[in-house]
Amino acid sequence: MNYVFMLTWPMDAIGYVLSMSEECQTASDRLNEVFDSRPEIADRAGAHSLDRCRGRIEFRGVGFKYPKSDEWILRNLNLVIEPGETVGIVGRTGSGKTTLAYLLPRLYDVAEGQVLLDGIDVRDLYLRSLRSHVGVAFEDPILFSASVHENLVMGRPVVSDEELKRAIDVAQAGFVWDLPWGLETRVGEQGYTLSGGQRQRLALARAVLGNPAVLVLDDPLSSVDVHTEAVIEQSLARVLEGVTGLLVVHRPSTLALADRVALIDGGTVVAVGAHTDLLKSNDLYRALLSQEYEASRQQTA
Ligand SMILES: Nc1ncnc2c1ncn2[C@@H]1O[C@H](COP(=O)(O)OP(=O)(O)OP(=O)(O)O)[C@@H](O)[C@H]1O
Ligand SMILES: [Mg+2]
Repeated sequence: MNYVFMLTWPMDAIGYVLSMSEECQTASDRLNEVFDSRPEIADRAGAHSLDRCRGRIEFRGVGFKYPKSDEWILRNLNLVIEPGETVGIVGRTGSGKTTLAYLLPRLYDVAEGQVLLDGIDVRDLYLRSLRSHVGVAFEDPILFSASVHENLVMGRPVVSDEELKRAIDVAQAGFVWDLPWGLETRVGEQGYTLSGGQRQRLALARAVLGNPAVLVLDDPLSSVDVHTEAVIEQSLARVLEGVTGLLVVHRPSTLALADRVALIDGGTVVAVGAHTDLLKSNDLYRALLSQEYEASRQQTA
């Protein structure tokens, strides 16, 4: 039973879900690729657990290269996010926003510097402890060949119906109730096909389930239509009130959720401030946001 408890985070939970269904060979192969390439992401000797998490995040002199690559994607990057604060991350395509989001839940480890949660280097925490405090939703979420319910709960020991309902509400994922077998409907590679926006909303529900102190949301609404996005943003604003948020954003409207924005360029944070201040003072920021604004307008036109 204990090993089930450990699996409170999606990537870990893949193994758990796979063990229940043998037919998802493709997903299993992909999983092995991911883990085989990063055996160093493991609990250190002497690691400890963080029982109560305030949610202070610090990237301190962070440098990062992908394995087998010589290119520094991030270098000398410093950023502090105080407990309860939400910081939006803005930067050109390929500037390293997603990469930065990977470092907190340790999908990858830094090559230089440190990532700290409540002042503790994340590499000194048990992975299961770290990830129990960090809810993540990435742009292209992985769903497993399992029921909607299993995809949401992901091995958490006890999740009440009320908690599930709240997470589904927050993420505007109410469509799950209308699936042929409701929450028991099988999705993923072998199951009922969901749209990109529906998968994103499920992933968001998964991220907020269990009320983690930190939410890492990497452009989680990019495939959601503009109307749904507006509704999700309203409920996300309430969720983010009590937690620390690292929010990669493209659409200017989403920036309303951020207390401050960090602009990334050349692998480092080049400006931090309130959205309206950066709009006034920073040419790159203004250019990036007006491009995105135009693009999103064209999509909806
Ligand atoms: N697995 C990987 N191996 C090697 N290089 C990678 C890998 N993933 C991303 N990169 C490179 O790292 C850089 C940063 O990528 P990243 O995905 O973090 O950018 P991003 O800011 O999130 O971009 P976007 O706005 O398009 O989502 C890019 O040059 C990308 O090509
Ligand atoms: Mg990205």
